[in-house]
Amino acid sequence: MSLVISSSPEQKMSAISCHNIIKRYGETQVVHEFDLDVADNEFVVFLGPSGCGKSTILRMLAGLEDISGGDLHIGGRRVNDLPPQERGIAMVFQNYALYPHMTVRDNIAFGLKRLRVPKAEIDSRIKEVSDTLGLERYLQRKPTELSGGQQQRVAIARAMIKTPKVFLFDEPLSNLDAKLRNHMRIEIAKLHQTLKTTTVYVTHDQHEAMTLADRIVLLRDGRIEQVGSPKEIFERPRSAFVAGFIGTPPMNLVEMSVKDQGSHFELSCRAGVVHVNARQFALEGRERATLGIRPAHLQVDTSGGRDGGFFGEVQLIEYLGNEVLVSFSQNGGESSNEISALMPSAQAPRLHERVSFVADPQQVHLFDIDTGASLRIDKASLH
Ligand SMILES: Nc1ncnc2c1ncn2[C@@H]1O[C@H](COP(=O)(O)OP(=O)(O)OP(=O)(O)O)[C@@H](O)[C@H]1O
Ligand SMILES: [Mg+2]
Repeated sequence: MSLVISSSPEQKMSAISCHNIIKRYGETQVVHEFDLDVADNEFVVFLGPSGCGKSTILRMLAGLEDISGGDLHIGGRRVNDLPPQERGIAMVFQNYALYPHMTVRDNIAFGLKRLRVPKAEIDSRIKEVSDTLGLERYLQRKPTELSGGQQQRVAIARAMIKTPKVFLFDEPLSNLDAKLRNHMRIEIAKLHQTLKTTTVYVTHDQHEAMTLADRIVLLRDGRIEQVGSPKEIFERPRSAFVAGFIGTPPMNLVEMSVKDQGSHFELSCRAGVVHVNARQFALEGRERATLGIRPAHLQVDTSGGRDGGFFGEVQLIEYLGNEVLVSFSQNGGESSNEISALMPSAQAPRLHERVSFVADPQQVHLFDIDTGASLRIDKASLH
């Protein structure tokens, strides 16, 4: 891949600062006091369930949606009231809508032609971006003569050619099949390594978020639930919501009774017992807590239950290739929890077999039973 578009000092000034940004549609507030600083060159991903406000915030950054309150700065300049074309941003949407009657070349050049950029400059920029994105061979084709991935690259080229200060992507890969999505995700990661343009990328695909992001902003109902590196979000979820949202297969979340044993706490439910270090979690005075443990952090118990663990009868075995996901539960109780464990396929138990697993104590998470807030005392950040 060759580079490209020269970066002027002005272009470097592309940090984004959101301060107390809110969005109201009539009486309904859909974004609440959104505070975030995106550093120059950073790749930030907005992640969260449908309707949590990802696109709305992105569209406010782009200037396609009015900001109801707060301050938005891009490159140190307040841009709340600046029209989209003066913000120095380029946006790529899920429905990238190329002009079907124009060639790839004309689609890419369209924005620059409208700005009356001289032809020689347009030609040299088209050469640069099409080299970078591997589109040289397709410049004379029409969009209908391209694959979905190639079309998506044309959409990115169209955004790139404007040498934006900031790239905004709204679910750009969600119309592609799984293989192509994987391929384009890698292309976008490489593109960012080359261009280093400040990027805000919206997705509800956690795999995309984990692999692309410098930092993930996890949103829920128009509020930030957690901001952190993929590792921080995965290993130190600040709430049961984050814990349950990130990770496949999802984390087991089980309500447990708490008993203070002095040096440690004993947590128990119908399906088992776990001991946790008294210094690690704020459990004092609590009768109940939500325990979180990822399926990969449950190991087959070979100690005969001496160290506690989870027990039950296998209800379901899902074959995943190298591994199987085994779901087991205690029968008979009205509140029987189903718990899942991930294990090598070679060790797969049989359906209805009684199994027993120990939880790796270093990998246990605990949350407030009502608010879902993490009870971890050592909240030191990970990088
Ligand atoms: N024009 C509008 N008028 C009223 N409410 C709206 C409007 N646009 C969006 N909303 C509401 O704002 C909330 C956030 O919507 P938004 O499109 O930002 O969600 P999202 O996180 O992008 O979801 P998805 O993953 O489904 O794209 C939703 O509850 C939505 O119903
Ligand atoms: Mg959206």
